[in-house]
Amino acid sequence: MAQEIFDKVNNLLGEIQAATPDTPEQVEQFRIRFLGTKNVLKPLFGEFRNIPNERKKEFGTAMNNLKEAAEKKYEALKAQAEQATEAAEAANLDLSAPGEPIALGGRHPVSIVMNRIVEIFSRIGFNVAQDREIEDDWHNFTALNTPEDHPARDMQDTYYLRDDVERLLRTHTSSVQVRTMTHQKPPIRSIFPGRVYRNETISARAHCQFHQVEGLYIDENVSFADLKQTLDYFAKEMFGAQTKIRLRPSFFPFTEPSAEVDVSCFICGGEGCNVCKYTSWVEILGCGMVDPNVLENCGIDPDKYTGFAFGMGVERIAMLKYRINDIRLLFENDIRFLKQFDSAF
Ligand code: DAH
Repeated sequence: MAQEIFDKVNNLLGEIQAATPDTPEQVEQFRIRFLGTKNVLKPLFGEFRNIPNERKKEFGTAMNNLKEAAEKKYEALKAQAEQATEAAEAANLDLSAPGEPIALGGRHPVSIVMNRIVEIFSRIGFNVAQDREIEDDWHNFTALNTPEDHPARDMQDTYYLRDDVERLLRTHTSSVQVRTMTHQKPPIRSIFPGRVYRNETISARAHCQFHQVEGLYIDENVSFADLKQTLDYFAKEMFGAQTKIRLRPSFFPFTEPSAEVDVSCFICGGEGCNVCKYTSWVEILGCGMVDPNVLENCGIDPDKYTGFAFGMGVERIAMLKYRINDIRLLFENDIRFLKQFDSAF
């Protein structure tokens, strides 16, 4: 009687070892037969009580081996099946199929315009310099001939840091002119791109942060004609070969004489439209001959050297060029807005 049961155990062990299921269905049948809730091992465990005491231990071991053999075999079959599926998928792989496109980000419109400005001036020998955004009063105002009582110093416009050395967030990139002139001897021919800050109420037309590109050319005999020529070249490169410029007298503390520069409207070509507000001209920058006081403040001899400077707002140019009617769009990083510039230059 006991031997019969032992034989059954051995037969099942043999069956497990010999099993070669190869379809997923056959593997599942194997699992049901040997490991399912009604598996064939269960009744055998019930035979325990019919085994004479002296062989109980032997029977226990045999049954455990049987169960373990079933489990191991099932694990091995499962792993095999997975490998087979992978191999089948690999065999179906079409190596000649075109690849999935990789989503590339585009440049931000402010970067596009800034890079373009830098590129245009680089071609005529201007190098690029950058400096700090946290400035002191001297570099941002005093050295630039901006007297103590000038409205530009008003708390309304400038973000001051709460420290005892009177530092502030620069309100214009003109501070980098001062940094450059105090460290370098003429000839100086540089442009200074960067971010600036003003304590303004944020609206469609104004923001508390924006970007400027400043230009500076100091040498012997630099004239107003050189300034005009340089800006004329810039305007044509930036807005198209038909573009004309016009200079209107203006005032900046750090230049004398000073001018504001308009370009002929590149949208309507002078016909009149809502971008130029039917005037045919759009203002793009401020400029002038560097005030002798500024040269002197920075340790450059105004009797020997003259120079011109200009400064422009990058957002303003980007808004004109791409017809963006709200400056806040340039700072929100809304992907639906930015996506429109993916293929811009
Ligand atoms: N700093 C001026 C501003 O922020 C722009 C400017 C005007 C810069 C004339 C210059 C300049 O260098 O000559 O409005």
